[in-house]
Amino acid sequence: MDAPVLRNDVYRRPLATALDRLAVGAGWRVVDVGAGAGDVAVALAEIVGRNGRVYAVDSDPVARDETARAASAHSQVLAITQRAEDLRLPEPVDLAFCRFLLLHVTDPVAVLGRMAEAVRAGGWVVAQEPVTSAGRVDGRPLSMPDARDPDVGALLPALVRRAGLVLEDAWAEAPAGAGPGPVASYLEGLTGVDPGNDPIVLPPLVTVLARRAVAGP
Ligand SMILES: C[S@@+](CC[C@H](N)C(=O)[O-])C[C@H]1O[C@@H](n2cnc3c(N)ncnc32)[C@H](O)[C@@H]1O
Repeated sequence: MDAPVLRNDVYRRPLATALDRLAVGAGWRVVDVGAGAGDVAVALAEIVGRNGRVYAVDSDPVARDETARAASAHSQVLAITQRAEDLRLPEPVDLAFCRFLLLHVTDPVAVLGRMAEAVRAGGWVVAQEPVTSAGRVDGRPLSMPDARDPDVGALLPALVRRAGLVLEDAWAEAPAGAGPGPVASYLEGLTGVDPGNDPIVLPPLVTVLARRAVAGP
């Protein structure tokens, strides 16, 4: 896992925008799929409160331990080791969320389909995924050779519809900067190279807000 604290810092704004638009509140039951070190799970726990529930799911058992540590003050967080492709929860949730997950999976539509099945009728599926090659350092495109589809964000609105969800809203946001600061530190954490004073546009995150349809009469 790469620089989770810095990711939380620089990509906090897109997360806040999405959660504000949904009006996530006290008592919500949510799942963060591909939860990593648990930054989003902790942010969600603070919003849903003690009467809510946050499932933090990741295929890597190390992530479960890290999330459990990060969320030790939040008993409403339950960290689970499970593949997104096999997502199965003990109860339907109001929101299934993922960020920086679908770029790593072989079949993003299948994962979005599992997330759709995890939410109640009328519940939300929200994904935030990058268009890596739209990021720039000193005007040059970024790349992420380890990801299966580093530009999956560019396809995201169509992928949620192919997963049978109703697309309610979609947009892209990218942190940018030049010189020392969280954007440069984040990039250095990802690439191992100090960008100095080069201008940086980090990969835009495409956010989709989609709903599971309510069954007709
Ligand atoms: C780049 S990290 C993102 C972490 C977190 N979502 C965030 O935004 O900070 C990707 C995470 O997805 C997990 N992951 C990758 N493939 C997965 C899969 N098929 N099912 C569940 N988790 C997966 C990895 O173990 C890793 O923790």
